[in-house]
Amino acid sequence: MNSEGRDWAYSEKVKDHFLNPRNYLMGDESLFEYDAVGIVGNPVCGDQMKMYLKVGRRENGVEYVQNLRWKTYGCASAIASTSALSEMAKDKTLDDALKITAKDVDEYLGNLPKHKFHCSVLGHDALREAISNYRNETKGQSEVE
Ligand code: FES
Repeated sequence: MNSEGRDWAYSEKVKDHFLNPRNYLMGDESLFEYDAVGIVGNPVCGDQMKMYLKVGRRENGVEYVQNLRWKTYGCASAIASTSALSEMAKDKTLDDALKITAKDVDEYLGNLPKHKFHCSVLGHDALREAISNYRNETKGQSEVE
């Protein structure tokens, strides 16, 4: 294999997450109870990602990622990286979930081929969008309750 060929190689972890995607939304979105959605497109390739977020509240009032599901028209790298991200984000507070970077996901997976790094941004951006939408939709509600 030449050096160009190695640039296309996927780690075992990437293959596992692509072939067995975690938290992928199977079927209709009405089957999953969620509080907010984030939808983003990848400007590099035009692929799309939709992230469904269910928020929980701990006894101390802190909100966290109770559950999430996602769907995409993205490639194998987008599927693997969003699968990994979904595992990394689950049970984290919303603030901590926002701190997960695309680079963190890339490292968790044992690195995507360099030219596929832009694919790992898709799930990451969709989660950020879902959290932002959740916060905008619930702004001021705690004062009303
Ligand atoms: S090529 Fe579009 S997300 Fe990977």
